[in-house]
Amino acid sequence: MVTRRVADILKNGQPDELATIKGWVRTKRELKGFSFIEVNDGSSLAGLQAVLDADLPDYENIIKQLSTGASVEIEGKLVESPGKGQKIEMKGESVIVYGTADPETYPLQKKRHSFEFLRTISHLRSRTNTLGAVFRVRNACATAIHQFFQEKGFLWIHSPIITASDCEGAGELFTVTNFDLNKLPKNDGGEIDYSQDFFGKQAYLTVSGQLQAEVMAMAFQNVYTFGPTFRAENSNTSRHLAEFWMVEPEMAFCDLEGDQNLAEEFLKYIFKYVLDNCAEDIEFFNKWVNKSLLETADNIINNEFERVTYTEAVALLEKATKKFEFPVEWGIDLQSEHERYLAEDLFKKPVIVTNYPKDIKAFYMRLDEGEKTVSAMDILAPGIGEIIGGSQREERLDVLERRIKEMNIEADDIWWYLDLRRYGTVPHAGFGLGFERLVQFITGMTNIRDVIPFPRTPLSADF
Ligand code: 4AD
Ligand code: MG
Repeated sequence: MVTRRVADILKNGQPDELATIKGWVRTKRELKGFSFIEVNDGSSLAGLQAVLDADLPDYENIIKQLSTGASVEIEGKLVESPGKGQKIEMKGESVIVYGTADPETYPLQKKRHSFEFLRTISHLRSRTNTLGAVFRVRNACATAIHQFFQEKGFLWIHSPIITASDCEGAGELFTVTNFDLNKLPKNDGGEIDYSQDFFGKQAYLTVSGQLQAEVMAMAFQNVYTFGPTFRAENSNTSRHLAEFWMVEPEMAFCDLEGDQNLAEEFLKYIFKYVLDNCAEDIEFFNKWVNKSLLETADNIINNEFERVTYTEAVALLEKATKKFEFPVEWGIDLQSEHERYLAEDLFKKPVIVTNYPKDIKAFYMRLDEGEKTVSAMDILAPGIGEIIGGSQREERLDVLERRIKEMNIEADDIWWYLDLRRYGTVPHAGFGLGFERLVQFITGMTNIRDVIPFPRTPLSADF
């Protein structure tokens, strides 16, 4: 008999249909003459309730084994459920217990566990309601992202994880080597000599696929990356990971305005997709995690984002009656408290801040007229802060050469990047969306460690 997923049975199951389900026991209730077993297979928040009659062969032994966490296959007939909360249940006819879960030691008992505790059992926490819902929504976000770009004719490109370039220049690179660093030869100056290493030079885990996306956009016009990126950022916050996923579209023949328009349309599309496809999970988050989640989602989908320049944003922050820990003046990098003030307190919706001072941004951003600012944009989301960072890129060879000199970047290291400006250069723009911050935004989860299956943060890389 075909195995059906629980979500499908709960939605489409009809009385008298025969079905088999396979999953893990969530709860067991033993009554006189029969028992209720709730089986969850990860396909939905709710499990399917199976009723097992005491006249089933080997009933006592089976029921003893079916404690929370045990894995099981139940075959039976679907019947209308007399109970509240579900319209269909299963009358079990045969049961196979695959694996038991000793109630004395199984860590996930039927009570609310803290997220901190669940982080210590990453190998089991996906079986809980909240983490289950998070990872279904995460999957839906990924699907929405691919669907959005594929519908628009963007090519998904696979940027490398190992690279020799430092896209952001922020000194947050993890070094890749196939040697024990202590055993690598040193040069005359006492520094490690990477010429002897696997790649013959110093290589890193990528912080961004943007530079390679620019290469591909110069052939395919519109492309996007979607993959893991790495930053040795020693910040233990609820919004930073050492390994996170980033989505980076790059568009040829596009300026900063086109970039902002695409980013806004993109975020709205993902929200709508998730609301349409994960309604049950989103309602769960709205009830248990963030009570204004549905309101926020509605606000995102139906209102235009606010757009201000950095200079305007600084003026608004200077006028604010709120006291900031970090003083505001033109030229500072906006801190999380400033970003959240703008998005949460002032505008109460996502805010796109553009044209930041050139000194606080990366080398590749296009210099604005007057040469004080660059064509950068950040999208600040209520409750999160920066969720997207992007820019129009410097397409003028002479300006780019001047900028990299000012910033002490070796032209020889990015000769290929300069070549793109030598041969058929075009105005182009793109952005990077932090995928985990997006999942936080959509679910209301407060800690980024709880929206990625296996979080990597300072002093923690278990599993
Ligand atoms: O603003 P960032 O550094 O921009 C770039 O990397 C550009 N190369 C993107 C581009 O234009 N193609 O990073 C982009 C986004 C941030 O807005 C943030 O959402 C996320 O990546 N991000 C992180 N997410 C989790 N943990 C970290 N340590 C993150 N650092 C950045
Ligand atoms: Mg940024």
